[in-house]
Amino acid sequence: MRCTQEGYGARLRPMQNISSGSGSPSPVRTPAPLGFGRIFSEHMLTLQWSQGRGWHDVQIKPRAALAVDPAASALHYGQSMFEGLKAFRGADGVIRVFRMDAHLQRMHTGAARLAMPAIDLELTRASLLEHVRRDASWVPRERGQSLYIRPLLFATEGFLGVRPANTYTLLVLLSPVGAYYEKGLEALRIWVEQEHVRTTPGGLGAVKTGANYAASLLAAARAKSNGFDQVLWLDAVHRKNLEEVGTMNFFVRIGDEVVTPPLGDTILAGITRDSSLTLMRSWGVRVSERVISIEELIAASRSGALQEAFGTGTAAVIAPVGELGIGDLRLRLPAAPGEIASRLYNTITGIQYGELPDRYNWLTAICP
Ligand code: COI
Repeated sequence: MRCTQEGYGARLRPMQNISSGSGSPSPVRTPAPLGFGRIFSEHMLTLQWSQGRGWHDVQIKPRAALAVDPAASALHYGQSMFEGLKAFRGADGVIRVFRMDAHLQRMHTGAARLAMPAIDLELTRASLLEHVRRDASWVPRERGQSLYIRPLLFATEGFLGVRPANTYTLLVLLSPVGAYYEKGLEALRIWVEQEHVRTTPGGLGAVKTGANYAASLLAAARAKSNGFDQVLWLDAVHRKNLEEVGTMNFFVRIGDEVVTPPLGDTILAGITRDSSLTLMRSWGVRVSERVISIEELIAASRSGALQEAFGTGTAAVIAPVGELGIGDLRLRLPAAPGEIASRLYNTITGIQYGELPDRYNWLTAICP
């Protein structure tokens, strides 16, 4: 595949006092495991938006604490959203960003729900590629490690009235990461949450906004203190239909059918979800995006039809589920990782590291 020369270099403001060291060890010298989201690269990217001017002032500068107005509406009213995508260094040395356009498009579309300005797709894409190219030495070399790219869009106007802000920042951080779960591909124990809900119909569930994650923290912490790794969310209205698992989309295999809950305003349109559906359909697997209830899951487990369960997400890729706890009931999955989860994991990571053909044009390779 050809690498892209795309970038924003010539138009960038003099950032130019790029410091040569940030205090964090370069991942190239950092021994595994890296963990997730603890180490950051040397630079951050910022773009500003204001009413009348639109997007302007693109800067790549040394990562540092932000000067934010203490009345900024992102801090008070949560007008903020983020994305998460990854760049991989293959054994051939090439750096490939996975599904960059799908991630940027999701942010572009999601901003409207929070009354925020749409990101400028072309400008963001070019600046982000330039940022990754500048910090290319921070893309880890080990298989299983990658550079997590975290764009964050937030309202900066210092005003305490409740209305959409007039000024915003788009910020991008780069973080060399290993496995999201310490367990790696080891099976997760999942608690089916029956008290709290992650979101509601008509709410923000389809948008990658901090509020959804804040809503999940208490239930997740309680599940953890009871020996579970994450929670499985049920729908807010009936408290019976499966929605998401932790920060991931959820899949189960019942007999020869792989089922995942349908997209709507309570489920995030996961990019790994979409990649998994595309791959499974290309393999001839019977895949359904349909409503599935906890009763159906329990019945499938009792009849022996429940073969496997797994979560999909950018951070964890594929996370197999080994056990589900529902009150006093325990459902044990026969295989974790099961056949489909293993095949998906191997195929997605094979494409990401440039070992398998990129049949769907999911990769953007960055010229050194
Ligand atoms: C993802 O895996 O897609 C995530 O959003 C995880 C992140 C919140 C850490």
